[in-house]
Amino acid sequence: MQEEKLSADIENIVKKWEGKKGSLIMILHDIQNLYGYVPRSTSLQLSKYMDVPLARIYEVITFYHFFKLEPPGKHLVQVCMGTACYLKGASDLLLELRNILGVNEGCTSNDGLFHLEVVRCLGCCGLAPVVKIDEKVYSKVTKDRIADILAEYEEEAVAK
Ligand code: FES
Repeated sequence: MQEEKLSADIENIVKKWEGKKGSLIMILHDIQNLYGYVPRSTSLQLSKYMDVPLARIYEVITFYHFFKLEPPGKHLVQVCMGTACYLKGASDLLLELRNILGVNEGCTSNDGLFHLEVVRCLGCCGLAPVVKIDEKVYSKVTKDRIADILAEYEEEAVAK
């Protein structure tokens, strides 16, 4: 990410919301939409531009679950913990994913390839337990299949 580009982007976003009610939240939304997260360097610049204490910016970012402080992983892994999936063993799938990826939900694996999230019902309960990676839904997943499923994405990343 280029520092100069970042500054120009921020300036445009700040100008768009300047003087409007709730502008800080809207600005942070736009920054997250732009980068996928709110980089620390951006928060620092924003603090200077808007003359808002950095602590206030972080207060807003950490209050709303929506905002992310780390870059998102390349692939979003969603484990459904809705009732149907839970009853069919989704918690075992989550444990296996935590073990293999080495992270808890809400975090990105060290290689930056996977971001792990827990969701409540993906709307396909008949296929429980369900794991979704990006737009692809894996149905009736068993703990033993997790490593193979992730390997598809790891191989694809190596091939590129
Ligand atoms: S509970 Fe998992 S898809 Fe509905």
